[in-house]
Formats: sequence, structure tokens, C-alpha cells
Amino acid sequence: MIELEVPLGDRSYPVLVGAGARHRLLEVLPVGVKRAAIVTQPAIGVEVDPGVEHRVFPMAEGEDAKDLGTVEDLCRDFARWGLTRGDVVVAVGGGVVTDTAGFAAAVYHRGVPVVHVATTLLGQVDAAIGGKTGVNLPEGKNLVGAFWQPAAVLCDTEVLGTLPPREYRNGLGEMAKYAFLGVDGLADLPLDEAVAACVRCKAEVVAADEREGGRRAILNYGHTLGHALETAGGYDLRHGEAVAIGLVYAAELARALGRIDAARVAEHRTIVAGYDLPMTLPSGADVERLLALFARDKKAVDGVTFVLDGPAGVEPVRIGDPRLLAQTLEALR
Ligand code: GLY
Repeated sequence: MIELEVPLGDRSYPVLVGAGARHRLLEVLPVGVKRAAIVTQPAIGVEVDPGVEHRVFPMAEGEDAKDLGTVEDLCRDFARWGLTRGDVVVAVGGGVVTDTAGFAAAVYHRGVPVVHVATTLLGQVDAAIGGKTGVNLPEGKNLVGAFWQPAAVLCDTEVLGTLPPREYRNGLGEMAKYAFLGVDGLADLPLDEAVAACVRCKAEVVAADEREGGRRAILNYGHTLGHALETAGGYDLRHGEAVAIGLVYAAELARALGRIDAARVAEHRTIVAGYDLPMTLPSGADVERLLALFARDKKAVDGVTFVLDGPAGVEPVRIGDPRLLAQTLEALR
């Protein structure tokens, strides 16, 4: 088992990575916890034993379930069960479950502890780590949320073997991002070590900038186009697939701005292709719609900001000329 930590002072928490990590749940529960509300989805099929009185609170499948309605349902169910701040929410699932249950935990009774048992590759390398919780609005993804750090995260790599291939590749899209955030040789590492390397990288970034005042934005590498493609909808793309296209787009934008050279763009393409992820816009992608969605991105405080590679590494860059965005999108068809 690889034991890591997200160092946040008195809110630091352990992340255990490896086969069977889910069986370590009892030892990572906050001291004195009396009951555990386990939030999961029926199809996840991963059972956990918190070793204290517990009840399972199922939520619906799919990105559509990650909404305020589900948060209300969960909080009402918690209230009927009598959940208190002396108890814990245990989220068992992928990003949809940990984001939604994490947000419910953040707002129920103004905050109860949450432990994430991440059962997807995407959840293990990104969603479950770092305390971002939240849900979608019809107007866009993750527009309502809170920073609420978990008490612990368990990344059980044993359960990844049962993921449908497309769900696994969904996680590879997020994993690919870390290859450009300083994790060397990622593609050659055994799975446990690759997950741990991504967690270590994310933990370091989160520790430096918990609330995304600056540096943490680099974790959104590839996400501005990725989120726009997901929100525009109708493209049958999973998050990691959309991010993969976003990584290639970000590389092409960086080259158009003279920040990186063709060899570095080729490196992006090689890594994305190596994970068998898409690199071109879906057929029928509407460039005007994507540009409008860029402007609505949470980072777009003043104009459109993209996270781009460059001589000083990956960093947020404000893009003044929307024509460049459109031209580069057209070139990605
Ligand atoms: N997924 C990006 C972050 O946690 O900041």
C-alpha cells in the first residue's frame, strides 16, 4: 500500500493507494465517529465496512444526477436518519458520487466529515483529492460547490479491474494531464505507482494553493475546451476524452502563441494517443458555441483564460484575441 498525505496543516489527510485500500476504511475514519452515511450508486457494486453503525444512501447514476436535487434528497435523508456532525459521510464511487456527496457533506449541518472511497481511475487521480465538491447547473458543469477537504481518501486499485474499458479510459484523460505537470515517465509506471504519482502531484499543488488563488488552476490543464465540449453536449464524450482533446488544443494554442515548439506539441499528441484517447473535435462541433462557453468558464474573470504550457511550465494565460481561439479550434477538426 502506498501511503501519501495531502499536507494542509491541521486539516492534512491521508491518501492510501493500492489493492484492497477500501478495507482500511475503519482506521481512517475520524476519531470518535458513531455512524457512517454511505453514499453510492447501485451499479458501483463496491461494498465497504466502516466498522460502525451505517446506512447506505443510494443516488442515481450519471452526470445528470450530480445536481442540487440530489443534494437536497441526500440532506433530507441524512436529516431523517439523524446524521450529526459527530458522524461521517462515506462517498463510494467515481467523481459524480464524491463531488455530490462531498458537497452534501459540506453543507449539511454546515459541514460534516467526509471520507472518499474512489472507485474509478478518474476519481483516484483527480476528483476525490483536493476538496473540490459541487454539482452542475443546466447552465454548466460544477457551477455550484464548496471547498471541503475529506478526512481521508482510499484509492483501491483492485476495483479498477472491473471498470468498463471506456470508464477506465475516462480516467486516462485526467492521468495524461499530469504528464505535463511534472510527472515524468508516467506511462511506464505500474498502475499503483502511476495513480500514486498523480496523487502526489495533485497533493503538492493543492497544498500550495488550496482555494485556487493561482497555481491550482494548472490542474485545469486541458479543461477549458474539455468542459465546453461536455456542456455543449451531444458529442458522446466522457470527461477524460473531452480533456484529452483539450490537452491537444491547449498545446496547439500554446504553439500559436509561440510559447512551445512543434516537438512539445508532438509530445502532447504522443501521450494522448498512447492512452488511445481522441485528439480531434467531434464531427459537427459548433465553434461559435464553444467560444461562448469559454467565456462562461469559472476562470474567465476578465476575458478568456486558458491554462497553457510554456517556458515556465503550465500556467494560466489570458487570451486577448478570440480569433486565435476560433482558428485553432477549426484546425483541430
Ligand atoms: N480538478 C481540478 C482541481 O481539483 O483543482
